[in-house]
Amino acid sequence: MRLQDKIAIIIGAGQGEGSTAAIGNGRATALVFAREGAKVLAVDRDLASAQETVTLIAQAGGEAQAYRADVTDEMQIKAAIDACVQRWGRVDILHNNVGISVAGNDAAVEDITTEAFDRIVAVNLRGMIYSCKHTIPVMRRQQAGVILNISSMAAWTTYPWVGYKTTKAAIIAMTEQIAIQNASYGIRANVILPGLMDTPMAVDTRARTWGTPREVIAAERDAQVPLRHKMGTAWDVAHAALFLASDEAQFITGVALPVDGGASVRVG
Ligand SMILES: NC(=O)c1ccc[n+]([C@@H]2O[C@H](COP(=O)([O-])OP(=O)(O)OC[C@H]3O[C@@H](n4cnc5c(N)ncnc54)[C@H](O)[C@@H]3O)[C@@H](O)[C@H]2O)c1
Repeated sequence: MRLQDKIAIIIGAGQGEGSTAAIGNGRATALVFAREGAKVLAVDRDLASAQETVTLIAQAGGEAQAYRADVTDEMQIKAAIDACVQRWGRVDILHNNVGISVAGNDAAVEDITTEAFDRIVAVNLRGMIYSCKHTIPVMRRQQAGVILNISSMAAWTTYPWVGYKTTKAAIIAMTEQIAIQNASYGIRANVILPGLMDTPMAVDTRARTWGTPREVIAAERDAQVPLRHKMGTAWDVAHAALFLASDEAQFITGVALPVDGGASVRVG
């Protein structure tokens, strides 16, 4: 029970894309945090999906509550954080998982539309600013707290589309800034960079959008991973998050952690 009695908010705790083949990062993280003793506010714009996560947590003997909020709306995110404080009195862990690319009509810089770029910035980056903005005062009062942001290896490696790449890079800078500006309050902030993961959003969305069989997309992604030529899973991200959220990581802040099967050290 590495998160015994901790209160965690996970934003993007549902699973936007249905799949029986894989689990998403947000849901896996919610399940792992709850299994380790945390009480979880499972926030998602898709309430039914967040509720499914809560049901899975309850079936495993954990405690969670689903909450509907869209990260593009500051007041909805503030309300989610207020709801957590109202129910459990504090926020120990804020885990920001929401991120879109293909689903947001992302494109190369010469093709991107204003609408698509603004939408991706609003979902991937501005949403995290909102949740941090409204959680930091709570954590400062507590003189403790952990913020975990989900970026992507796309921030560091070659990636075709500009919206995802630039927002995921900005999340790293934002996390570093939060870490240094809040260190004296006992707040830690770290960012995880997943590599190629076998999640429904990454694999099934591409299969559906491009009309390509799931197996083909999965095989192409597997082939790019140095470690065992196999994508990671959402559990790999969840376990990295568990460590960073736990007191075992009490001296770790401002870190950008790749969870990528070695992709970040392959050059050329
Ligand atoms: N899967 C990968 O290969 C991979 C690689 C690198 C980074 N990531 C990052 O991991 C994170 C999770 O990805 P995933 O593929 O596991 O997805 P996921 O299954 O965790 O689903 C994300 C959730 O976010 C919710 N969401 C989307 N837009 C929202 C909004 N505006 N407001 C509130 N909720 C919203 C969806 O409903 C969904 O439940 C993302 O930030 C993604 O960029 C994933």
